[in-house]
Amino acid sequence: MINVGIAGIGFMGMIHYLAYQKIRGAKVRAICEQDTKRLAGDWRSIQGNFGPRGRKMNLKGIARHAELDDLLADPNVEMIDICLPPSWHADIAIAALKAGKHVFCEKPIALSVADAKRMVAAARRAGKQLLIGHVLPFFPEYHFAYKAIATGKYGKFLGGYFKRIISDPTWLSDYYNPAITGGPMLDLHIHDAHFIRLVCGMPTAVQTVGSMRGEVVERFSTQFRFDDPGLVVTAACGVIDQQGRPFTHAYEIYLERATLLFDYAAIGKGLDAHTPLTVLTNGGRVLRPKLGSGDPIDGFVAELTEVVRAVRTNTPSPLLHGELARDAVVLCQKQTQSVRTGRAVRVV
Ligand SMILES: NC(=O)c1ccc[n+]([C@@H]2O[C@H](COP(=O)([O-])OP(=O)(O)OC[C@H]3O[C@@H](n4cnc5c(N)ncnc54)[C@H](O)[C@@H]3O)[C@@H](O)[C@H]2O)c1
Repeated sequence: MINVGIAGIGFMGMIHYLAYQKIRGAKVRAICEQDTKRLAGDWRSIQGNFGPRGRKMNLKGIARHAELDDLLADPNVEMIDICLPPSWHADIAIAALKAGKHVFCEKPIALSVADAKRMVAAARRAGKQLLIGHVLPFFPEYHFAYKAIATGKYGKFLGGYFKRIISDPTWLSDYYNPAITGGPMLDLHIHDAHFIRLVCGMPTAVQTVGSMRGEVVERFSTQFRFDDPGLVVTAACGVIDQQGRPFTHAYEIYLERATLLFDYAAIGKGLDAHTPLTVLTNGGRVLRPKLGSGDPIDGFVAELTEVVRAVRTNTPSPLLHGELARDAVVLCQKQTQSVRTGRAVRVV
């Protein structure tokens, strides 16, 4: 049994807590939160863009710490699950690794490549696991695509496009602050950057056009280039400064013997526009694979199951390891550089 301490009980801290209740092999033994009501178990102020609303919780038997240092020093905790704003990730992860804990940290790994590298080096020195919460490959539609590409079931991956757009999150005061959240590139696109890195390897260059809001890129379109000129991958992502498009993510993936389609958009109160995962085979068949419950928390349950496996065996996770997450930050920074300079930017 892995004993877990969650740092930060906001939207993600709550989702992780709920997911831990559904898995074997890990138990939440402690939490740390600066908000006294949340620390006491009153989670009614917590709300995100999916999952249940927060409620009053029974936290009997769970140690409560108001200070991060006390959580890191808690002898009953073997793994720190960091659900703090991104500006905290690097320092707390490194302190936790130095204190002999494994670390599972929400995305993005960090706001800078230098910090991400420090985290990866600290994990190596400590001989502990550093896992980054890139949950996208655990969502059923993306897991299907990942497996189809990795196994070659439909032949070689030829390319495709990825989309992730939200309305301006006006309620998040630090969203466009490069030192706290990092803007749409590091908050939003990082999911697709990580997925593209996972299934394609590291691009050799990126060419991005986009609009800026202050110091961060607001909305953009990227062409990823690879050694193989036949691999054609693009992504469109960002924030539109209006409230009519709360959330959409989608992909179209071209394989030698099939095309995979998926498109989901929340378009209003209780409404969505949806192309469920669809496989178009080169024989002309249209397949709709069965994908399970559709409960978004199940993606986090699958992710945590992989975290438990990696920590228990002390072996890196092919999907969640720190180097992959660091590469996603590298890509986001190169894409930002490309917008600023108006030119293609070499990655490797
Ligand atoms: N994987 C996903 O789909 C997904 C979705 C949303 C957020 N996230 C990531 O999760 C992380 C947290 O985001 P969130 O939306 O949960 O944020 P949030 O603001 O809802 O929660 C952060 C919590 O940390 C607490 N906190 C901040 N500083 C603290 C400190 N010094 N000591 C103790 N508590 C402190 C805050 O009081 C708050 O309750 C971010 O890295 C974000 O990118 C991931």
